[in-house]
Amino acid sequence: MDRTFVMIKPDGVARGLIGEIVARFESKGLTIAGMKMLHIDEQLAGTHYEMHREKPFYGPLMEYITSGPSVAMAVEGDGAVGIVRNIVGATDPKEASPGTIRGDLAMEIGRNVVHASDSDEFAVRELGLFFDDDEILGYDTSDRQWLYE
Ligand code: RTP
Ligand code: MG
Repeated sequence: MDRTFVMIKPDGVARGLIGEIVARFESKGLTIAGMKMLHIDEQLAGTHYEMHREKPFYGPLMEYITSGPSVAMAVEGDGAVGIVRNIVGATDPKEASPGTIRGDLAMEIGRNVVHASDSDEFAVRELGLFFDDDEILGYDTSDRQWLYE
């Protein structure tokens, strides 16, 4: 089963959107295989977003991500990486389609409530960054036979 990394950013947590966001993945048929709340420090934020180090938005992004607790998740399902990116929506909530998390729940690119890995390679890297192996748990959900042919 494919896995991806999702993070509810500090604005999503502070705005009381944890349940709403988790529900969207669960209702789709994806499984939450790992979950933890943590206050991301500068070192972890810097590693997670190191590909953006030279970008003009890097400073504000670091401040945003370290500003309060986040919720980290391992999300599982066939094609999880692509499906989750579609559910999350475009990076800028102003352009994100209605029906997506960012399209429905956010206003600005610097406050876009959620992160999701953008490739299988980054999913593996980010899951490894936030979770130990024994913190990701495989289990059978009762509706599996109705989700997959
Ligand atoms: P993420 O990594 O958080 O899932 O978002 P993404 O792939 O959709 O977008 P990415 O290009 O990786 O950007 C990472 C985060 O940086 C902030 N950002 N601000 N002000 C700006 O122009 C700008 N561009 C990006 C956003 O919070 C974005 O999610
Ligand atoms: Mg990204």
